Amino acid sequence: MIVQDLFPKDLFAGKTVFITGGGSGINLGVARNFAALGAQIAICGRTLDRLETAAVELRALNAHTGGRVLPVVADVRDSVALDLALERTRSELGAIDVLVAGAAGNFLCPAEELSPNGFRSVIEIDLMGGFHASRAAFAQLKQTRGCIIFISAGQAFVPQAYQLHVGAAKAGIDNMMKNLALEWGRHGIRANSIVPGPIADTEGMKRLSTPEADAANKRVIPLRRYGAVDDIGQAAVFLASPLAAYVTGTVLSVDGGLNLIGSALWNQHVETMPLRKKS
Ligand code: COA
Ligand code: NAP
Repeated sequence: MIVQDLFPKDLFAGKTVFITGGGSGINLGVARNFAALGAQIAICGRTLDRLETAAVELRALNAHTGGRVLPVVADVRDSVALDLALERTRSELGAIDVLVAGAAGNFLCPAEELSPNGFRSVIEIDLMGGFHASRAAFAQLKQTRGCIIFISAGQAFVPQAYQLHVGAAKAGIDNMMKNLALEWGRHGIRANSIVPGPIADTEGMKRLSTPEADAANKRVIPLRRYGAVDDIGQAAVFLASPLAAYVTGTVLSVDGGLNLIGSALWNQHVETMPLRKKS
């Protein structure tokens, strides 16, 4: 992580960041970057053990501003659970300044085999979850004139085989983000999306690629590498910082230029992937 060498270590001192899906992968990388710059962090997910393990690491990173990290269990499909999680965060850490909506589910599945419940699961976690989190966070963000960062995906605008459910959910997220930017701008609330490219060593890439496909993918990504979780964490820090004070309603691709080459490559690989019925 280089963020603490580039920005003041107390940039987010006294600020609170709430991250859905913050116990692992890219979202945990986002949490690390905010913690290194002094933010108080609330991470939310379905698995307490995972959240507690992540919290230990995050407390070491924001120790210089008090080490305040709150793991809070909630399923983002449950709006009441998210209301309670945001309320608990307010009472323990203060009103939130940043909401990162990153919880998601994904699996490869051909359209004709996707069950209604499989489609619904991803829509409910990604899209409904993003809505529930935004709605639950509104009063606090209005108070702090804070911002929302959605973790979207390139499938929102470059269709990929076996990703119908994810494309629909993430396109919905980006559209919702623009609506929120439009409606809540008058309260000083900004909303933006980050579109990560393929990020190494994540659950998402475990589900979407194979080691053989990885090598071929890297040869055609314009920047010739997979991203790191810190690439996304740094973009999130930028969007939440005063440097982005006039940035709202935008989709920021942090993908090494992958979207420029379309999805033919992925579509070719996908037919060689072993399809798992259940995660
Ligand atoms: N292929 C096809 N359908 C699948 C599937 C797969 N690999 N995995 C799950 N489904 C279907 C199930 O069959 C079920 O539909 P059905 O009732 O018609 O059989 C539906 O999706 C819900 O599955 P379930 O396992 O009950 O859902 P869940 O709520 O426990 O889990 C998932 C949600 C499926 C998204 C799960 O993979 C998950 O929790 N993922 C989180 C982590 C993740 O995906 N990380 C990557 C983010 S990019
Ligand atoms: P990940 O580690 O599996 O992250 C997903 C997180 O969401 C997990 O911590 C999971 O924790 C949580 N979660 C899932 N369902 C939930 C629910 N119903 N309620 C609350 N929390 C839930 O995967 P990742 O690959 O890092 O992906 C993170 C984000 O980046 C996702 O939005 C994904 O779409 C996006 N993205 C990833 C890539 C990539 O290359 N990996 C590329 C583009 C976009 P629990 O299971 O414990 O709840």
